[in-house]
Amino acid sequence: MTGRPTLWITRKLSTATEARAARDYDVRLNPEDRLFSADEIVAMSYEVDAILPCHSEVFDASVVARMSERVKIVANHSVGVDHCDLEALKAKGVVVTNTPDVLSDATAEIALLLMLAAARRAGEGDRLVRAGEWISWSPAFMVGTQMTGKRLGVVGMGRVGRAFAKLVQGFGMQIHYYNRNPLPPAEENGAIYHETIEALLPQAQFLSLHCPATPQTIDLMNEARLNMLPEGAILVNTARGALIDEAALVAALKSGRLAAAGLDVFKTEPGGNQELSKLDNVFMLPHIGSATKETRDAMGFRALDNLDAFFAGNEPVDRLV
Ligand code: DGY
Repeated sequence: MTGRPTLWITRKLSTATEARAARDYDVRLNPEDRLFSADEIVAMSYEVDAILPCHSEVFDASVVARMSERVKIVANHSVGVDHCDLEALKAKGVVVTNTPDVLSDATAEIALLLMLAAARRAGEGDRLVRAGEWISWSPAFMVGTQMTGKRLGVVGMGRVGRAFAKLVQGFGMQIHYYNRNPLPPAEENGAIYHETIEALLPQAQFLSLHCPATPQTIDLMNEARLNMLPEGAILVNTARGALIDEAALVAALKSGRLAAAGLDVFKTEPGGNQELSKLDNVFMLPHIGSATKETRDAMGFRALDNLDAFFAGNEPVDRLV
């Protein structure tokens, strides 16, 4: 390749990220921040050497098959890569990277926010006051669930799961977790390992999901598994909407089998789930787990670090395929 590589940044990224990219690459930006269709992604692939997408751009097998051979690397601005068919990209010889580590604290903060908000009925309370409908108070009013001293189940003790477990230590919660492998004892901090998710669930008065969406984890929390949680449990999801059977969750929340849920991610994004929206005992956010200024800069720089390494002929730190 002669001259600077041509890089397409699919969405509007932080100012610092775009400035650095423009310094080092012949960059195509998206100042209107519009969503590109599959056909447009394919068309753009004929004009660039590298793509820096977000989880909003889908690189499924049909897109990858039609993409130009010119694209050598897809450097994701996300830790999750369920929007990428990694096998198809690998078979085409495209390098794929992601941005782990840098969003763990921001996402753990949002998990804590969701857990507190769901447990203490923050959405309901906020709506009541805003609507001018707060007309009485009594000890029986808006009684929620206390987190302090309860058992928390964590599914997936990767970077985000560990950051979240650390954050809730101040609440004196007993932490139980399910992971493919137990953590080294020095990293467990007293958390109790369960070899199966079925062993974990009956312990989890609160359950927080921190595993990736893969063919094996789609609808992980289905009706049967939701029923394994203790009566009145609270479910939190900051990972991917695909992990939960939303119809089963609606039923569990309606029946009171689950006390509440806190969700930052949904099967349909953007948009969410209109059946969940009808329920007062759900607190919802629009997939903003990593949406802090600091983390957006860090994600952008991490993606650019991976690109820089690749074009310098080195192995990108976060290479997946
Ligand atoms: C991630 O990094 O996977 C977040 O969900 C934002 O895309």
